[in-house]
Amino acid sequence: MIGRLNHVAIAVPDLEAAAAQYRDSLGAKVSEPQSEPDHGVIVVFIELPNTKIELLHPINENSPIAKFLEKNPDGGMHHVCYEVEDIIAARDRLKAAGARVLGDGNPKIGAHGKPVIFLHPKDFCGTLVELEQA
Ligand code: CO
Repeated sequence: MIGRLNHVAIAVPDLEAAAAQYRDSLGAKVSEPQSEPDHGVIVVFIELPNTKIELLHPINENSPIAKFLEKNPDGGMHHVCYEVEDIIAARDRLKAAGARVLGDGNPKIGAHGKPVIFLHPKDFCGTLVELEQA
């Protein structure tokens, strides 16, 4: 069912420093910071030949990323995003298998303008999983 790895998201305490590290030390193509107020984050997109990395920084103290950084002050991997062809079919299949969908269970529009859902990390090897309709 799952297709390509769309992105890996990394929460970072210092967005400028993290973007500079990916640009200057790792030699990656790095976007300008982009505000995503609906998700409580500022994002820098890093384009790799086969996938993307998203550096996430909280917009304010209420952001879910702020809570994550409290527990992981150096930053850390926040979630992985896999592509699916049909987000509703994927959700229904996972719910039938006992997986928990976060929020009200309905897809939201994600950072790339496409419907996404998030799956509970306790159901997936301790890793928060995002599914995006490709
Ligand atoms: Co994501």
